[in-house]
Amino acid sequence: MIRASAPGKLILFGDHAVVYGEPGIATAINKRVYSTACELEGRKIIIESKDTGETIECGIRDKSKNPIVAAVQEAQKFSKSRSGVGVEINSQIPIGAGLGSSAAVATATIASVATLFNGKEPSTMEIAEMAYKADKLAHESPSGIDTAITSLGGTIFFKKGNISQLDSDPLTFVVANSGVRRNTSDMVLRVKNSIMDPRVALSMFSIGSLAKEARTVFMNKRPVDLGPLMDRGQSLLKDLGVSSTAIEDLVKLAKDSGAIGSKITGAGGGGCIISLSDDPEDLIKAFKENGAFAYSVRTNQPGVRIE
Ligand code: PMV
Repeated sequence: MIRASAPGKLILFGDHAVVYGEPGIATAINKRVYSTACELEGRKIIIESKDTGETIECGIRDKSKNPIVAAVQEAQKFSKSRSGVGVEINSQIPIGAGLGSSAAVATATIASVATLFNGKEPSTMEIAEMAYKADKLAHESPSGIDTAITSLGGTIFFKKGNISQLDSDPLTFVVANSGVRRNTSDMVLRVKNSIMDPRVALSMFSIGSLAKEARTVFMNKRPVDLGPLMDRGQSLLKDLGVSSTAIEDLVKLAKDSGAIGSKITGAGGGGCIISLSDDPEDLIKAFKENGAFAYSVRTNQPGVRIE
């Protein structure tokens, strides 16, 4: 039996634009998914998610668009295994909220299954490549930023085909959940349908430029300077059409309560916003007083690992 874990993530800059080759910045957070794999008699894959209560059962070679099945099959292909496998998932990350739950599940599962059948742990780059392949089967044109950050951990500057680690201390961000669950592929498709509009193309370029400015902020070790860049990022994401009334209300509440910067993380349309604040506890209190579910997370956390 092998247990692995992988972190959730925040996309600080570059949401959606990374799909079109612009740069982005993502960071691993202190909320993780745990995946435990064991060999089973017969040629079945059985996946049990303890948080959702869902069980998936299929043959080891069945074609499936389910992201966890795709992850198991990639890991088996890597390990040249034809054995049955059972996987149990325990997650601290909310689903469909922009915090990287599905990438973390895939990554932790690939690590546990590949280590079980391969006899040794694959490298984080090998895990990232397998997770990206599985993600491509399950999602609409993924950029690879989610599977890269959950595999590698830390804080990355990401441009398709090119990833570098940024030097950062762990920072505290406040996460507030709009309570609206959304589907990443639907949001990516919505943007894709308007990409021929020159204003949308320009917004993509501007979102990429913000990521470059933010890289300089990390290099200069002045994290408070990220705040205004986050606000500009949110305004560009709104222009792309991926914000919503619920998100704009949360952003306004954050700003009125003293946040230095506030924006969507991930695909938008619902899910979570992230805010930077001099006083995270005070901001969480303000969210809670207004009926929003909020908590703090720490960035720059370790990537996938065998427990
Ligand atoms: O799944 P989410 O909400 O973390 O969004 C993924 C980030 C996008 O840029 C919207 C899509 C992608 O593949 O990069």
